[in-house]
Amino acid sequence: MSYQSLLKDTPAKEVAGFRVYTLEETGSTNDDLLKLAKLGAPDGVALSALKQRKGRGRLDRTWLGKPGQSLALSVLLRPTKEEQAHLLRFTALAGLALLEVLKTRYGLQTMLKWPNDVLLDGAKVCGILTESLWNGNQADAVVIGIGVNLGKEAYQGQQNLRYKAISLEEHLGYLVSIEELRDALLESIQNLRPGMIQEDFIFSWNRNLAFVGERVQILNEKGETEWFRLKGVQSNGALLVEDMSGQLRQLYSSEIAP
Ligand code: BTN
Repeated sequence: MSYQSLLKDTPAKEVAGFRVYTLEETGSTNDDLLKLAKLGAPDGVALSALKQRKGRGRLDRTWLGKPGQSLALSVLLRPTKEEQAHLLRFTALAGLALLEVLKTRYGLQTMLKWPNDVLLDGAKVCGILTESLWNGNQADAVVIGIGVNLGKEAYQGQQNLRYKAISLEEHLGYLVSIEELRDALLESIQNLRPGMIQEDFIFSWNRNLAFVGERVQILNEKGETEWFRLKGVQSNGALLVEDMSGQLRQLYSSEIAP
């Protein structure tokens, strides 16, 4: 089976060098795009869905949403040789791209919550799930899944909602167009991608990072929490924190707790 045959009946359009396909309903756009990537779909294929039945978040959480209330978008990138050294930056690429769109189009000031959320008024408005297909220690494909809460009902079905959630509608007072936001986001990802391998990208990530200098509670993989002072993101994408005895630590896959 070819990836083209799977997509042959799906409406598509070109946006800023992406070929974006739109589904009425699916399980998870990340699952679909990982499958298409395995079948050889190229860099730049993107998939959005009006409704996901099995949308996934980090740490085995579900990410559901009523049709029309959220943007569910997955983007397939084939990392270049230079990008292979910076794979942890792909999540921030999507995050910074969204920040840019929310600021320039909708006048919203948002921040990145390491490693994968976008915060509006201190609450989560977007979650990002980046998954890779590996060939040894090289990533053959990176799928960046982006879920944005557009309307109030976007996050009502979400299980295990640890962090307070918010939608763009609650702040703006109106529902933004899914297609307008999606296309602007794709354009912004395309514009920011060349800079992703530069050190400036890390400055930009840190400039837009929430809780810098503040004491935060961090949840590790075992479900335990510990207090740290947040210092910033390092060049390798790890979070630099200081424990309460003044010892510096690098974190790779933890989560900042509420
Ligand atoms: C998180 O907050 O833990 C990440 C949520 C990511 C949700 C998006 S919606 C589009 C894409 N498809 C999925 O199944 N998940 C991501």
